[in-house]
Amino acid sequence: MRKINVGICGLGTVGSGTVNLLRDNAELIAGRAQCELVIAQIGARRPNPACDTQSLNVTSDIFEVLVNPDIDVVVELIGGTTVAYDLVMGAIANGKHVVTANKALIAEHGGEIFAAAAKAGVMVGYEAAVAGGIPIIKALREGLAGNRVNWIAGIINGTTNFILSEMASKGTPFAKLLSDAQAKGYAEADPTFDVEGIDAAHKLVILASLGFGIPLSIEGLYSEGITKLEPLDVAYADELGYKVKHLGIARQSSEGVELRVHPTLVPHSSLISDVDGVLNAVMVNSDAVGTTLYSGAGAGALPTASSLVADLIDVARRSACKPESWPPALGVPVAQLTAQPMLAIEQIDTAFYIRFAALDKPGVLSAVTKIMGDAGISIEAIIQREQPVGEQFVNVIILTDVTKEQQLEGAVAAIEALDTVRDSVTFIRVEHLDQ
Ligand code: HSE
Repeated sequence: MRKINVGICGLGTVGSGTVNLLRDNAELIAGRAQCELVIAQIGARRPNPACDTQSLNVTSDIFEVLVNPDIDVVVELIGGTTVAYDLVMGAIANGKHVVTANKALIAEHGGEIFAAAAKAGVMVGYEAAVAGGIPIIKALREGLAGNRVNWIAGIINGTTNFILSEMASKGTPFAKLLSDAQAKGYAEADPTFDVEGIDAAHKLVILASLGFGIPLSIEGLYSEGITKLEPLDVAYADELGYKVKHLGIARQSSEGVELRVHPTLVPHSSLISDVDGVLNAVMVNSDAVGTTLYSGAGAGALPTASSLVADLIDVARRSACKPESWPPALGVPVAQLTAQPMLAIEQIDTAFYIRFAALDKPGVLSAVTKIMGDAGISIEAIIQREQPVGEQFVNVIILTDVTKEQQLEGAVAAIEALDTVRDSVTFIRVEHLDQ
């Protein structure tokens, strides 16, 4: 049987999961790859108690793996875009295939990396970079290759989904939930990447490039995290028949492409609304098949290892064939990716949930509905709730029909300027995802 020598750089949660999976399923993997996947070297600064490396060749210098002539494929699990960039580009320059879980690296430098890999005749696998164990890269690149993709919407960060699910079911405050997610190993080394939407933004850039054939670029992407989200709004949303999810949304239309990451109300009837905890889900709407949904574990040791090992099996299978027969990393060669105009957030069309505290006296609501009417915004639902927001104030919640965000922003400013409205207006976008 053929052998492929694997060098693994980084032995954190995902690295140890990969070593364990390659070991535990070695026979099955070899049968499927028609090739033995040998862990020939590990580059790791520290041991990991979750993984027994006694019988393995471990070096504390990750760059040793790149120059090791025995290594065929380098698994990059360092993270970040500095050392990891040098590692990946160095591996390619040394004629080694690369498999990575690094979404920031692919989103920011993927174009250059894939072009260098194609020139060097090596593969770069990145299935694990988006939505952990869900094979969404292969679904978009291979399974949906005959479709024109209209939109992609996904829960693509497990940490925020875990936090929002717990907030909805238990009303636990944000800070406590973040430390729970960190303890469970879901969060990035810098958790602001999760809760501020940066991690999801990186993943969305990759999905949009694959789906729409556009270059990998974060420019023009709108990103908003969950740190300002109040349990009160999660509870009101539930009352109105919606869940609050942190979504990455990519849509292409005749006007251009919109890329946005933000908290979103989705109706209880939408399949994605039931995707809770650390689970991820990606919905893809495309012209031939319609809407398809992919869900599963989006983070964690073995789920992410599942995608990494699938890429390693691809490397093993395909390295026996000519490079011309390999699918391009982004579906088409990098030079054939075509930029499209990017729509600013003010230009998008969506529905909104808005909440404000208003004086409980006659005429207040009619002033608000007049502002909405003048802005051309149709109201779908309006409720008033007595809340402990001061004796004279009540919470007013409005659901709008689809409108331009710019119109909504104008109306929000006018509502905030009313003497009868206290503080600022909270607004959250609403997507029905079935149209
Ligand atoms: N921190 C990421 C998440 C891990 O929470 O989804 C997987 O990319």
